[in-house]
Amino acid sequence: MVPAPTSEDRLTIGQLSQRSGLATSALRYYEELGLIRSERTVGGQRRYARAALRRVAFVRAAQRVGLSLEEAGAALARLPVDHAPTAKEWAPVARSWQHRIDDQIAELQVLRRKLGGCIGCGCLSLRTCTLYNPDDVAAEHGAGARYLLGDEQPAPAHGRTVTHRE
Ligand code: FES
Repeated sequence: MVPAPTSEDRLTIGQLSQRSGLATSALRYYEELGLIRSERTVGGQRRYARAALRRVAFVRAAQRVGLSLEEAGAALARLPVDHAPTAKEWAPVARSWQHRIDDQIAELQVLRRKLGGCIGCGCLSLRTCTLYNPDDVAAEHGAGARYLLGDEQPAPAHGRTVTHRE
């Protein structure tokens, strides 16, 4: 039988902040988003189970991988609340992060390739600099505000083209 948690097993928001390195305001925000949970004392003060430390660490790691807080919450929802995740429970989450990291590496490699032309330049030209204006498709049609001049914009997701003459 698992013993009931004692008051020593619970952390105040200050203790959780100190142990996790996250500001108390951020912890309150995490709680608002449902990433961590607290119980209230009779006096209305927050008390966190020690497992909250692990959840905060998880969210911070997810953010380092590039996940938003919402995405981190969705990933957390796939993990158990009552115990540390087993290797089997953790594997699908780690796999989904692997794709994310691979995508980021690919994007950075493209950026590094494009950066080659910028080294020693510094122009940050709106027309030609791929670092400052990485996906300027309109520039291929000539100078100026192409879409305001009536050029067709690339088709949006639903397949309809748009001009500003409509
Ligand atoms: S800084 Fe000149 S091309 Fe990028």
